Amino acid sequence: MKMMDFKSMLEQRQQEFDMALSTHFNEPTLYQHKVFEAMRYSLNVGGKRIRPILFLEAYSLCGKSSQIAKDFACALEMIHTYSLIHDDLPAMDNDDFRRGNPTNHKVFGEGMAILAGDGLLNYAYELMLKRTLDSDNPRPALLAMNTIATASGVYGMIGGQVVDMQSEGKAPNEEDLSFIHQHKTAALLKASVVAGGYLAQASQENLSRLDAYGHHIGMAFQIVDDILDIVGNQDKLGKTVGSDLERGKLTYPCVYGLEKSRVMAKEHLESAKQAICGFGPSSEFFSALADFLLHREY
Ligand code: IPE
Ligand code: IPE
Ligand code: MG
Ligand code: MG
Ligand code: MG
Repeated sequence: MKMMDFKSMLEQRQQEFDMALSTHFNEPTLYQHKVFEAMRYSLNVGGKRIRPILFLEAYSLCGKSSQIAKDFACALEMIHTYSLIHDDLPAMDNDDFRRGNPTNHKVFGEGMAILAGDGLLNYAYELMLKRTLDSDNPRPALLAMNTIATASGVYGMIGGQVVDMQSEGKAPNEEDLSFIHQHKTAALLKASVVAGGYLAQASQENLSRLDAYGHHIGMAFQIVDDILDIVGNQDKLGKTVGSDLERGKLTYPCVYGLEKSRVMAKEHLESAKQAICGFGPSSEFFSALADFLLHREY
């Protein structure tokens, strides 16, 4: 697939997804309307929508199409967005820009930003549970939800954020670094792919392919995120460049240097493409997405 064709497919998927997402939290008359405003602010301000797109692609790769998948995709983006709001707080990375705009706490204050994050996280499960309860055959949805819940909790993303925070200012160390990247970022990206497979009742063989693909793009994604924090363009990236260095974060470039980090990201993406090619020609979008994630500037 040509990169140009891929980009227009990606844009179309982003737009479709944004439409689905924007239907949530339009509650201007409720007493607690401020928190809805804060949730909508971070959710609808943009973002690449990689996790929901991964989920929907894995789902359709295994041959299905349905409303429940759209809602699960929205839930994934809500969990991701909550993690960004909290990650940016002064008590964590203390960042002022996200998705090209002031961070949530800069606009709504820290208390409201914490609650908006909590609200998004909880609502994601409200939404998934509602759809699961509506379903005649809830087991695939429960397996998908189980995958998402584990990957975003203390055994996954939160666990990674804990070690990320504790590693600030410490000497470069390969073991901690590998734990951080696998958990804070790769876990949820992998879960997005695998949960799509579970919801579509994919075979064990296909679930293993999705698992390997998700793991490798997840690792590459955070390595590239670390690289962009050094060499990226702030306007394109939509967030402050140099934030990791300022906070003394444990990153791939700080342990391996920029060049070796680039090579390692590329190796992960080659492994991702290798894992997904078992699906045959229908895996073309996933394969092009891996290339896009390696070469992205935002
Ligand atoms: C940023 O994620 C946080 C990381 C896990 C590296 P994204 O780069 O997917 O952020 P958005 O959603 O596009 O803003
Ligand atoms: C974020 O890692 C991981 C999350 C779970 C949010 P970073 O702290 O590197 O993400 P950015 O660079 O702020 O987007
Ligand atoms: Mg962080
Ligand atoms: Mg951060
Ligand atoms: Mg970063």
